[in-house]
Amino acid sequence: MIRIAAVGDLHLTVHGAGRLRPQFEGIEAEADVLLLAGDLTNWGKPEEAELLVSELSDISIPRVAILGNHDYHSEGPDRVRAILEAGGVTVLENESIVFEIGSETLGIVGGKGFGGGFGNTCLSPFGEREIRDFLKSTYACAEALDRGLSKLKTDYRVVLLHYSPAVETLKGEAVAIYPFLGSSIMGEPIDAHGADLVLHGHAHKGTEHGCTAGGIPVRNVSLPVIGESYALYQLEQKAEMLAH
Ligand SMILES: [Fe+2]
Ligand SMILES: [Fe+2]
Repeated sequence: MIRIAAVGDLHLTVHGAGRLRPQFEGIEAEADVLLLAGDLTNWGKPEEAELLVSELSDISIPRVAILGNHDYHSEGPDRVRAILEAGGVTVLENESIVFEIGSETLGIVGGKGFGGGFGNTCLSPFGEREIRDFLKSTYACAEALDRGLSKLKTDYRVVLLHYSPAVETLKGEAVAIYPFLGSSIMGEPIDAHGADLVLHGHAHKGTEHGCTAGGIPVRNVSLPVIGESYALYQLEQKAEMLAH
């Protein structure tokens, strides 16, 4: 059994010193890994990233993050990423990582993702260059999920995104902005290869529990949605059927 703690949308500003540190106190007793689902800083400022690293510095379990749109806002995501990684936080941008936890293995595929909409109202890469450019990072993330999930042979596979791959966890948001909150383009490779759990943030007014079109469990761990410091999920092997 592997225990996952997850939260997104911390939106830490330079005025937030001391805000997060107590919220993660004792997390090691409850979880084996902490996953951070983007919008970790409010403006993408290096000072915010430095403060975040400091606030998370007492945590001794692995910390894995993806960036959100807010982390892209200022000097660029590379600077934010470099600061987080120098502080011991692994950042995934369309990449995978594997952890051995006890006798089990956990594979995480992560990336920011992007929008595009869902199902039969999903935007398609047709016509103007601007439309195709809009979908570029959504497709790049979908390709990374396809690659990562087909490659990972771990006991458990978790997908960590900022934008949602499923419409269900957006319920509560205005339908008109769904295309800017995620896309089923990212849900397709998840359904094709399977995963034990998909986590995302970004939809502050959404719903925690949902699943992809193909039935893979999705959790919106945006801080305002979960309403606590972090959500906890357990991954357990299904009991093997005895052959007779
Ligand atoms: Fe956010
Ligand atoms: Fe966001």
